[in-house]
Amino acid sequence: KGESTVSIIVVGASGDLAKKKIFPALFALFYEDCLPKHFTVFGYARSKMTDPELRNMVSKTLTCRIDKRENCGEKMDQFLKRCFYNSGQYDSEENFAELAKKLKEHEGGRVSNRLFYLSIPPNIFIDAVRCASSSASSANGWTRVIVEKPFGRDSESSAALTRGLKQYLVEDQIFRIDHYLGKELVENLSVLRFANLIFEPLWSRQYIRNVQFIFSEDFGTEGRGGYFDHYGIIRDIMQNHLLQMLTLFAMETPVSLDAEDIRNEKVKVLRSMKPLQLGNVVVGQYKSHNKGGVTYSAYTDDKTVPKNSLTPTFAAAALFIDNARWDGVPFLMKAGKALHTKRAEIRVQFRDVPGNLYKRGFGMDLDRSTNELVIRVQPDEAIYLKINNKVPGLGMRLDRSNLNLHYAARYSKEIPDAYERLLLDAIEGERRLFIRSDELDAAWELFTPLLKELEEKKIIPEYYPYGSRGPVGAHYLAAKHNVQWGDIN
Ligand code: BG6
Repeated sequence: KGESTVSIIVVGASGDLAKKKIFPALFALFYEDCLPKHFTVFGYARSKMTDPELRNMVSKTLTCRIDKRENCGEKMDQFLKRCFYNSGQYDSEENFAELAKKLKEHEGGRVSNRLFYLSIPPNIFIDAVRCASSSASSANGWTRVIVEKPFGRDSESSAALTRGLKQYLVEDQIFRIDHYLGKELVENLSVLRFANLIFEPLWSRQYIRNVQFIFSEDFGTEGRGGYFDHYGIIRDIMQNHLLQMLTLFAMETPVSLDAEDIRNEKVKVLRSMKPLQLGNVVVGQYKSHNKGGVTYSAYTDDKTVPKNSLTPTFAAAALFIDNARWDGVPFLMKAGKALHTKRAEIRVQFRDVPGNLYKRGFGMDLDRSTNELVIRVQPDEAIYLKINNKVPGLGMRLDRSNLNLHYAARYSKEIPDAYERLLLDAIEGERRLFIRSDELDAAWELFTPLLKELEEKKIIPEYYPYGSRGPVGAHYLAAKHNVQWGDIN
């Protein structure tokens, strides 16, 4: 192992994702001594840049987020010395061959492993993969490619993209990122279920009334309107991030923790679901709002968004899993931009307690105060269980309290960014947290008919003020399934 090298090639090195996430994550891995002994990072993009200029650009993206330890500056210098640059077109085999020449020099005759991170728009994925594989793939080690959504806009375009990639790569070389799978509390979902006796026996229609997957951001699509308008919130958040959490939440116990065993179970969940129906969906779009003298712009005020755009910036949906475990249990999703808060969480609402021992007359209505397990993915990670408890003191009065695992209080260690975990896994060839192509197909099948219907029928979104709790329609949708959103307080 000591005699192999890993070259990480960030294709699209001057883009936003590279600067915000990829370089900082690589540095954090280096800081934690997680990168292999022989590694180099290569930036590849169209703009002309020298190695020192790339280092200067990268250095501005790095922070010493890890405790601001004293040797951080020194570590940064060491990391930057391993960073290089090659300018080139994304569809030029010649330019990729130049890159390959430089990679070879750095590899110094060792076994060469190459990880290409495609941080570029999807319409040039296939060209870049063609050039990378024909001119710059490793001759004696592995070649892997990380791609990130959007993986198409629907079943057909996603399948076309997969076919295109597979002209040059085999499935095992493709690492499709859904960065929510790299989040600490999402990874913990299966530990919570399968390493504790107390949850799994309750994890079914018998005890769970409904499950909610909630994503909200307190900012709009500012600066990303052009991208966003082509996709909308359903493709941007629901079809991937929320659906991934749902599959991990609902899957059967995998045979082992092996990537294929886990992904097999996730696919089964998706295939047990029916495509979403328009009647089970509410869409919204934010409008401008004046708060405290400040005017927050409407979605369509963004210059890169067409004035008459009907693209949803909010959606709520009810889904069902037609299997023995989950038959009849509503799985609700809600995702929105420009809402009152930034949060991602899973809420599990349990059924009410049978019998009537404490049902009435103790200060609360037990039919309404059922147990609720909340997994707060971000911010301020936490897992808490709402229980009914006796208020201390004479007499008998109940209230609702939390059994609370608050990460900041319990664990002193910083939680790594999702990209750190995912990059490390890609380097190590661990595929568990990456999306397999059949999983992607099944996910699109659930959403494609709905997306087409919304667009063909030009469904008008419900407008909601910037910074509000979103359209009231989301409450009607929940009520239709006898559910109340858990995040309303
Ligand atoms: C991305 C979406 O996948 O996830 C963005 O394209 C969204 O619209 C982002 O803002 C949210 O990620 P996080 O990690 O900040 O919750």
